[in-house]
Amino acid sequence: MTLHDTRGLAVSTRSQSALDRFDAAVELLNGYYLDFIAVIDEALEEDPGFVMGHCFKAGVYATCNEAAVQPDLRRSVEAAEALSAGANDRERAHMAAARAWMEGDLERAAALYGRIVQEHPRDILALQIGHQTDFFLGESRMLRDRVAQVLPHWDEGVPGFGHVLGMHAFGLEQNNLYDRAEEAGRRALALNQRDPWAIHAVAHVMEMQGRVSEGVEWLESRKAQWADNNAFSFHNWWHLALYHLERGETDRVLALYDAQVRPNPASMALELVDASAMLWRLHLRGVDVGDRWRNVADSWERTAADGYYAFNDAHAMMAFVGDGRDDAAERALAAQEAAAQRGRGTGAMMAREVGVPVCRALLAFGRGDYRTAADLLYTVRTRAHRFGGSHAQRDLIDLTLVEAAIRGGNAPLAQALVAERTDLKPSSPANRTLTARAVGMASGRTGAGRLGSVLFQDCAIVEG
Ligand SMILES: [Fe+2]
Repeated sequence: MTLHDTRGLAVSTRSQSALDRFDAAVELLNGYYLDFIAVIDEALEEDPGFVMGHCFKAGVYATCNEAAVQPDLRRSVEAAEALSAGANDRERAHMAAARAWMEGDLERAAALYGRIVQEHPRDILALQIGHQTDFFLGESRMLRDRVAQVLPHWDEGVPGFGHVLGMHAFGLEQNNLYDRAEEAGRRALALNQRDPWAIHAVAHVMEMQGRVSEGVEWLESRKAQWADNNAFSFHNWWHLALYHLERGETDRVLALYDAQVRPNPASMALELVDASAMLWRLHLRGVDVGDRWRNVADSWERTAADGYYAFNDAHAMMAFVGDGRDDAAERALAAQEAAAQRGRGTGAMMAREVGVPVCRALLAFGRGDYRTAADLLYTVRTRAHRFGGSHAQRDLIDLTLVEAAIRGGNAPLAQALVAERTDLKPSSPANRTLTARAVGMASGRTGAGRLGSVLFQDCAIVEG
């Protein structure tokens, strides 16, 4: 007799006990609650031939998106493929999608997980891995539409519906549909408050809209649902620190950084990215971060900066520049250049299009060559989504560009950039500070006085 998972999908196991553990592991993974790997391993102990158990692990390891996890990914893909003869079509499609990830073809992986989702709209595992793949590809539209494609097949009676709404909320947010994103996120949480991804989606809305106090309250009041025993908590802590940074509360930012964003020398690239990004934001503001760069740079030297994923390498470069490690910075740039020249695969495209110019710009910025940094960043910023990440994360490119323009004495560019930022987020105290600096650069320039008053007026209207 064929067994079916909790959403009615046929699975190739005869062990109900293994299947129960699988369903439990999927639910944990949907919320990034630990320890989904331990639970799926229990399923595989019950039935070592449980193919979806191996596909689950392959999907998790793939979306870590770092070279250090490649051996685990390969083991899981090969273990699943060894069971291919007894697997059903959906399970074989999972194997093919994970293999595409393993072989570095993220576009193909996204397409294959996407096809599973179209044929089996209640395959929430394929949906979640596809959603994460879209994130790494910077595919804003598909972050929304891959989820939208399945919505007619879900309702409150299907287990996991809240998580689907949470994914939809994030996709809507990445398409600047903030009202709809917040509505979807709040609906997700009304169904299931233990959904850190939905909480995160609404935190993004508040970040993009400059709703700083609401954002702090949003995350603080929901800590019980996202902060403990969660593989994603470091990133929601990062968002909380980002609100405090917007207010200029750098002591609080550093306290959150030490206690939560980087409480131990963990070496997962996903965590290192947030550590680098927060320290770089502080660095741009001239805040003394003590010896924190050293620890982060050590971890990047051990684990990445290897040309595997340009987004990671750009964040490694920040740490090397921040810590004054010229040799490591040169090696990271060389790794990106080598990746760019490989020609094939998603990593090569990302390195060529974004990784190399961003790394060169960061290196130039660190050496005080602000003109070169600004030239490179201005050119790359409109295509920077191609190396993945969220709008909030990639804002670091624009922040570095503004700072390079100001420090490099390029008043027209600096003033143009702060006008952009003010238009997008007029209530931002950080944007007001940048505006004051940019306008102050060219007091003798025709029209600068008017520009300053217009920009400050915009800020004041919203602030009031
Ligand atoms: Fe985020």
